[in-house]
Amino acid sequence: MQLTVISITAMPFPLAYTASMTTFSKADRIAWLQGPSGHCDVVPDGSSAPWMLVLLGAPGVGKGTQAALLHERLGSCHLSTGDVFRHAGTRPECDQSPAMREAMAYMLRGELVPDSTVWELVRERKACLHCRGGFILDGFPRTLAQAESLQTLMVREGIALTAVVSYELPPAEIVARLAGRRTCEKCKAVYHVTERPPKSAGRCDHCDGKLFQREDDRPESVKVRLETYDRSTAPLISYYEKMGLLVRVAAIGTADEICARTIPELEPRRLKGFAEKLWVAAENRRDT
Ligand code: AP5
Repeated sequence: MQLTVISITAMPFPLAYTASMTTFSKADRIAWLQGPSGHCDVVPDGSSAPWMLVLLGAPGVGKGTQAALLHERLGSCHLSTGDVFRHAGTRPECDQSPAMREAMAYMLRGELVPDSTVWELVRERKACLHCRGGFILDGFPRTLAQAESLQTLMVREGIALTAVVSYELPPAEIVARLAGRRTCEKCKAVYHVTERPPKSAGRCDHCDGKLFQREDDRPESVKVRLETYDRSTAPLISYYEKMGLLVRVAAIGTADEICARTIPELEPRRLKGFAEKLWVAAENRRDT
């Protein structure tokens, strides 16, 4: 595999920057899915400048699909709050906390889970934000209150977002994507019955797990989810735009085309973030 190495000599010391399309091995995300009791067996490869991304976009726009592709190509761990709720839902009822049972009732109706429940879930997984491979937050934050809590936590933890990607697609296309979605019950890989079909009908290409249709993809839940997105999550677009972090990406075309459209938009931001970090470190060393 050929690597492109860019050396920035204007910085306090040279930065070796790899702009390759490397394929990384799939992290198992156990610590994220299970919470503090879980430990990842497969951790993403480390990077001197890990990607720290937030994906925004309406339900069904393809955030999960893009997060999986970005994970393969950039190495950062895919952290989805929806996956945590669905994972909890697969446990025996006696192992589910009252807050988790309540969260799943909100999900089925297509409503947002209360901020306090979501924040508790993210806060107790904050070690994942220090993952050596970086992270791709998918489905979080989803309200201004969640975005502000995340910002406060990140400042406290000394972490900065590389960028926030907003995927954009007309509503009719979104509804069609949700109607045909199928998910693997074992590894959570996402397919579409016509647009991204598995090789063998009803079975996952990666682990041969059974594919299922999500309960919140029923038309009545989809309507509520799209309205909720417009009301509660769309305001985050201007929140992150004002912070200078927003990258808008048209979510039309194939998933690979969208991913190929996203990465060149992100590269300069990571370079800038890394350069700023080096500069601050050099200034701190000079002051001491
Ligand atoms: P969550 O799991 O986050 O769902 P979502 O945001 O509604 O997003 P989806 O997973 O439905 O869609 P997606 O954009 O990931 O699309 P996908 O890649 O699957 O949240 C579920 C629920 O949990 C929420 O409703 C809420 O109740 C709760 N929740 C979670 N986080 C919360 C929070 N922070 N606060 C409060 N509540 C929270 O793609 C969709 C389909 O399209 C697939 O079939 C895919 O194969 C297909 N597809 C993808 N890309 C393409 C393409 N380019 N061309 C054709 N088809 C494509």
